[in-house]
Amino acid sequence: MENSGEKRYGNNDEGKGKIAVVGSGLMGRGIGQVFASAGFPVTLIDLNQQVLDSALRQISANLNTMENSGLLAESKEVVLSRISTTPDLAEGVKSTSFVIEAVFENVDAKKEVFRKVERATDRSTIIATNTTAIPIRTLASVTTRPERVIGSHFWNPPHLVSAVEVTRGEKTSSDTVDKTVSILRKVGKKPAVVNRDVPGQIGIRILYAMIREATSLVESGTASAEDVDNIVKEALGTRLEILGPLELADLSGIDLVENVANILYKSLDSSTNPQRLVKRMVNSGELGVKTGKGFYDWKDGRNAQETIRERDAHLIKILKEQHSDADA
Ligand SMILES: NC(=O)c1ccc[n+]([C@@H]2O[C@H](COP(=O)([O-])OP(=O)(O)OC[C@H]3O[C@@H](n4cnc5c(N)ncnc54)[C@H](O)[C@@H]3O)[C@@H](O)[C@H]2O)c1
Repeated sequence: MENSGEKRYGNNDEGKGKIAVVGSGLMGRGIGQVFASAGFPVTLIDLNQQVLDSALRQISANLNTMENSGLLAESKEVVLSRISTTPDLAEGVKSTSFVIEAVFENVDAKKEVFRKVERATDRSTIIATNTTAIPIRTLASVTTRPERVIGSHFWNPPHLVSAVEVTRGEKTSSDTVDKTVSILRKVGKKPAVVNRDVPGQIGIRILYAMIREATSLVESGTASAEDVDNIVKEALGTRLEILGPLELADLSGIDLVENVANILYKSLDSSTNPQRLVKRMVNSGELGVKTGKGFYDWKDGRNAQETIRERDAHLIKILKEQHSDADA
């Protein structure tokens, strides 16, 4: 198995040019951590110094966890010394060969960042976006170098998930794809190339197909949110860690897949807009963890911090297994 993560690459600084990350929120700070942990000098950019200071505190805490889990080859201080911060975008992206944009999921905000990055960098600089659903061509269209624009969709938390989708825009050059795949491998990620510029790449499309169906099952009273989640976790999740849906299809037999699909597809939810239940929840402020209530009660019932701790502990366990496989 290909290695994933910070240990193997952490102490080799050869051939590693400066990386800039524009937008140092939840994703940007984690992406910066990944590159710094792999030996790259990183500049984190955001709108103000307070956000950048909070990014550094978060990275420092994450590095403590990585160190305690035996997943960091160098001291935390060495990794942190590779990270600089600035609210000045033009200054921050100067002399970089690879810039990753991770600002809000808003077309206008991202277009503005792309224009500024283009003005402040060489023509050869690759501008990658962490967008979840905005087409790459939309962002590439505001630059004069669409061949150097590409999607690099990290998953949350970026320092614990190895998968990254690399999405080719209509005009992205093969050289840009190759260089992006290569740099992601250098930082221990497992890039998957998405050859068509489709919203949601691979993983988000599949996740939202699942969220749409799960919501429909709850909205129609077929099952409770808890039972839907439990079946997905227990019946699907435990197997999906080692077998993807197409491997599962092959194991079942494609003739069986055809027979089931003939009966089932007609009854699956095919809404082309968010369902009424989702609209009702949004209108009544049931936004999930951030307001204390969504499909679950997060105020008096479940504890979000504890849930995130459990998730991260599980992801660290997987990373450690991947490291020991790679070292074997
Ligand atoms: N949150 C997730 O789980 C997740 C997962 C994968 C991809 N993404 C994608 O990653 C991107 C970032 O998401 P996030 O969750 O980190 O958002 P976030 O809100 O946590 O962070 C965005 C940051 O961008 C900064 N910013 C906004 N405009 C800026 C500008 N002009 N210059 C510099 N900084 C600017 C903000 O101050 C903020 O700190 C989005 O495109 C999102 O769709 C998010």
